[in-house]
Amino acid sequence: MKFSPKSLIAVSAINLAISFAQMTLANAEETYPQSQGWTQVEMRQWYGLSQGSRLAPLHWLKALKAENGTPFFTRANLEKFGYLYFPNQTSELPVGFVLDITTGNPYPWLGLNCSACHTSQLKTDKAEVWVHGGQTMADFQGFVTAVVNGLSTVGSDPAAFAEFSISVLGAQASADEQAKLKNELREWLAFRGPITKSGADSHWGRGRADAVGVILATTAMVVADPHIAPAAREPLPASNAPVSYPFVWNANQQARLQHNGVVDNGTNLGLFKVVKIGALIRNWTEALGVFADVKLDGDANKVNSSIRLDNLLLLEQALADLQSPVWPTAFGALDTKRQARGQAVFKANCGGCHGLLDHADTKTNLPLLSQPSKQDPNDPRGFIYLQPVFDKTSRPSAFLKTHQPSPDFIGTDPSMACNALLHQVPSGRFEGQVNVAGIVPSFADRKFSDRAVTTDLLRVLMQRDVLANRTRSLMSIGENQIAAAGGVITRYAYGVVESFTGQDVGQDPLAPLRAQLQFCAAMADAARARAPDSPLPVYKARPLNGIWATAPYLHNGSVPTLYDLLLPQKQRPKSFGYYDGLMDTQKGGLRDASQNPKAFIFRTYDAQGYVIPGNWNGGHEYGTTLSRAQKRDLVEYLKGL
Ligand code: HEC
Ligand code: HEC
Repeated sequence: MKFSPKSLIAVSAINLAISFAQMTLANAEETYPQSQGWTQVEMRQWYGLSQGSRLAPLHWLKALKAENGTPFFTRANLEKFGYLYFPNQTSELPVGFVLDITTGNPYPWLGLNCSACHTSQLKTDKAEVWVHGGQTMADFQGFVTAVVNGLSTVGSDPAAFAEFSISVLGAQASADEQAKLKNELREWLAFRGPITKSGADSHWGRGRADAVGVILATTAMVVADPHIAPAAREPLPASNAPVSYPFVWNANQQARLQHNGVVDNGTNLGLFKVVKIGALIRNWTEALGVFADVKLDGDANKVNSSIRLDNLLLLEQALADLQSPVWPTAFGALDTKRQARGQAVFKANCGGCHGLLDHADTKTNLPLLSQPSKQDPNDPRGFIYLQPVFDKTSRPSAFLKTHQPSPDFIGTDPSMACNALLHQVPSGRFEGQVNVAGIVPSFADRKFSDRAVTTDLLRVLMQRDVLANRTRSLMSIGENQIAAAGGVITRYAYGVVESFTGQDVGQDPLAPLRAQLQFCAAMADAARARAPDSPLPVYKARPLNGIWATAPYLHNGSVPTLYDLLLPQKQRPKSFGYYDGLMDTQKGGLRDASQNPKAFIFRTYDAQGYVIPGNWNGGHEYGTTLSRAQKRDLVEYLKGL
């Protein structure tokens, strides 16, 4: 071993503390970053705690070469993927890149914690602001693919392996040690390779990731039958529904989590600070998707995982205190007259679905609203609303008439909500096992057959790990609470159904969307025939405080500014350059970076003119018929939320 893990962790913790101290001193005026209600301790937890994420051993990453032969793991290279460094930061690891060191683990692994994905750096030509809990503009897919490709080269090219081995093990390593390294590398590639490949047909780009796709693909890999060689396995369903990273302030207050509202936040755990069981379960599944090391033991009954439930609790407690950021004066003063007029426009056009919440309110619960029209838009208490993706009576044709505003269905890209419901894979090592961790009586007779809805497999995996976790017993988190939270994930899936063949692939530009939608609608019908309360796919409308800081908009990040969202689909930008957080402060959102050769060009349509599923920028046609002046007033109001 060439370094001491202890000294490394100490150094990075100290660096983090120093950089916060410097930031606070140097930028007292503009509170940089704004504390958003956090104490220094909470900030350090958010940016420093490991959730048990283990992408790869740190010394592997340090030994890795980029395609051009230069070292891969350098600040300059990681910045190319859009990962951030705080001003004055001396640590070599970007924001949110955290070492995972535990007893029994021979060397530190590098992983990501929440802050790698949920932090934004926003800029104008004159000022720069950091937002805790905002959205990264990093290229997660590009970064992970580069690591997988780099390690594949090491695995297949003897010269590259020799060099890698010297760097990792030292020049004196024995043949046995080298063989062991090779084996570890092979295992790593066999696991990470297929997950990464599941997204290969879809370009997620900057600021987007198919988090749910990756979580479900990882679940499939954990339960996969080891007797079937990886190459002989059925390919994983495509992870082709990249989403924009949501802001995470007020998450703890919402009755449902995720863009598609699939996680019930559930009941409070009764700890020192408010943490809800659903949040903990959500974080567990997120940690699984973000490189936690999760394995089934010999008879697949026990789960061995690196997931740090203790730290997930601390991270969630910090999150529960996070306020939404306020528009920085350095970005230009807001026009109060416009805001006052915009408020009236908001109440008349938006308030029925988007509840209001004061920016400093981290306590009020936001319940689930069943009918948007029933809510008094003057009621200051917030709520969330889950809106169907398509209309249950006239789909899918109604969906495609999205130029007509409809209060009934949202009409935005269906990929994310549909993929999550329809993902199914071989049950692998869970085949024949009871589809429940011994908790939910109504499920007790159900056994996994050869195929399963992946969310079912995920729930059982999660329940087995959390139930056996020491932190859980210390915190006396009830079995029923875990069962209830996990049960909702499952109730949202449609069950294993025959595949649908009647796809209508026409010549019109929306043909791919139509085919996908018909498939999803047919599945929904089949599910409803079996269980009438099966949900339609939905997306969540939240209170919009802090929305100014979280472009691009809609769950799939297909609309770059608030102003563009108020245009009918045909007038919204069809392509747009996403690079970093350089803002268009007038329109409220991102400035087009197409001119920058390093930018990711987001496109709604492919070169043949067909819509790219996952990238549809239509739907949510609310406020589109307002006058230009009213739209500008509304944007000014939204910036001040
Ligand atoms: C690799 C990037 C990544 C990491 C790391 C990550 N998240 Fe997320 N998070 C996402 C994405 C993407 C979504 C959207 C998923 C969806 O609903 O499709 C999300 C969704 C969420 C949501 C739901 C928000 C809402 O409006 O419903 C919360 C809350 C959240 N994350 C909190 C956390 C916490 C806490 C951590 C650390 C314990 C964390 N995230 C780590 C990428 C990440
Ligand atoms: C009938 C319900 C409804 C109405 C009315 C409505 N919205 Fe929405 N809104 C939603 C839903 C549902 C979503 C999530 C859609 C998605 O992400 O695909 C959303 C998303 C958004 C987003 C994107 C949030 C993000 O994190 O990217 C913004 C901004 C927004 N709405 C603003 C408005 C404004 C401004 C109005 C009024 C002109 C309005 N909405 C009217 C239901 C509604």
